[in-house]
Amino acid sequence: MTETTFKKKILCIGAGYVGGPTMTVIANKCPDYKVTVVDISEERIRRWNSDNLPIFEPGLEERVFKVRGKNLFFSTDVERGIEEADIIFVAVNTPTKTFGEGMGRAADLQFMEKTARKIREVAKSDKIVIEKSTIPVRAAETLEKILHAGEDGPHFEILSNPEFMAEGTGIGDMESPDRVLIGSMDTPSGQAARDELIKIYEHWVPRDRIITTNLWSSELSKLVANAFLAQRITSINSISAVCEMTEADIGQVADAVGRDSRVGPKFLKAGVGFGGSCFRKDILNLVYLCEHYGLNEIGQFWHYVVKLNDFQMDRFVKRILSAMFNTLVGKKIAIFGFAFKPDTGDTRDAPAIFICKQLLEERAHLSITDPHAIENAKIDMEDYNDVTFEEDPYKAAEGTHGIALLTEWKEYQELDFQRLYDSMEKPACLFDGRNHLDHDKLFDIGFNVYAVGKPDRDHFKK
Ligand code: UGA
Repeated sequence: MTETTFKKKILCIGAGYVGGPTMTVIANKCPDYKVTVVDISEERIRRWNSDNLPIFEPGLEERVFKVRGKNLFFSTDVERGIEEADIIFVAVNTPTKTFGEGMGRAADLQFMEKTARKIREVAKSDKIVIEKSTIPVRAAETLEKILHAGEDGPHFEILSNPEFMAEGTGIGDMESPDRVLIGSMDTPSGQAARDELIKIYEHWVPRDRIITTNLWSSELSKLVANAFLAQRITSINSISAVCEMTEADIGQVADAVGRDSRVGPKFLKAGVGFGGSCFRKDILNLVYLCEHYGLNEIGQFWHYVVKLNDFQMDRFVKRILSAMFNTLVGKKIAIFGFAFKPDTGDTRDAPAIFICKQLLEERAHLSITDPHAIENAKIDMEDYNDVTFEEDPYKAAEGTHGIALLTEWKEYQELDFQRLYDSMEKPACLFDGRNHLDHDKLFDIGFNVYAVGKPDRDHFKK
């Protein structure tokens, strides 16, 4: 394919966790489309064009290397990208507002608005503009107003096409998705734009998995999908607290409940709480929306999902404190895993951040280890002393009074726990925040074992 023979030109504004991988999959699956990803960060684009990609995602590297320079391009030239594109995906940051009205809940749409203004300023021909970032319901209306403000200009047709990929499994989620969701206006031009986007996905997604809805249903479904998933985790975590009191076992309860096909087994794994850049942000966004429409009870219902998640992290810290005789002053604790989940180096809103800060408040010393997230952990913890970072888990555990496992990296199951135990202070505690390890074996080695949703197992005489 050459510049002139590409069927269509796609632009994605924003080369982050969503934009980069999504466009890589589209470029791999649609060799007849030219795909350009732009970002204002020169450093990020330089890395997308290097051998050291700015994000870690299994399967991403080989797919980028396969098509980069053929039909996938990374650039900082936003204006040129806009000018030549037929279809523009907007995948910019929409973090929670940290100031003013709606602070701590509403989405901060400044990057979205700036992008829309840029498109209007530069574009000379009609374009399809697709919301890929997660945004509040009816955000398309705002986009529409900005894009069509002022004198006669090109026509922009807005679509909503939320992303449902999860980090760590992102490539698989996109290559064989449960569903692709496309929201459009119910007008002839809206439907024509929708059909253009369907043509792209039809390169690899069966037609019956491509759902089409009105714009507002699509925008709302994205928030609700994440809210439901987070709510399931909070539900099982709330029961984990009951299990710890009653000697029921959360794994057994989750299995028994999840076997009901109406409930299903997925997303019922108790742990230290959910993290990541989406769940908290999207639920708070939903809460804000409910409050905006005067639906306060519904807002409170969803807000409680977030509050209980905080409670779960807090409970974990209190359990560590209580197991270590109610003082952590001068004690050393190894943190195994800092990423918000395995197979990613992402630490955004990771439970480890909250838990580590609480432990440091108690004046513990921490040694943090993680196979992929140490660089991010250093940034997250930069304001704190009494923290060291170790690539090697054995070094991290040396001389500690306890290990707290916060991310279920596969390699942690393969560690030599006898060796770890021998290098630790006694009594040696193991806090399994993800129920990831063999607790019988650990107990037999000599560890006092504290696992989420399971009774304490210590060697103290009762
Ligand atoms: C989530 C959704 O799963 C995706 O569908 C969605 O597209 C994405 O947000 C987004 O909006 O961008 P992600 O945040 O990457 O994906 O990660 P999840 O796999 O959903 O995990 C989120 C958190 O929940 C992690 O901290 C994980 O450890 C925790 N979790 C998950 C549990 O504690 N228990 C479980 O059973 C499952």
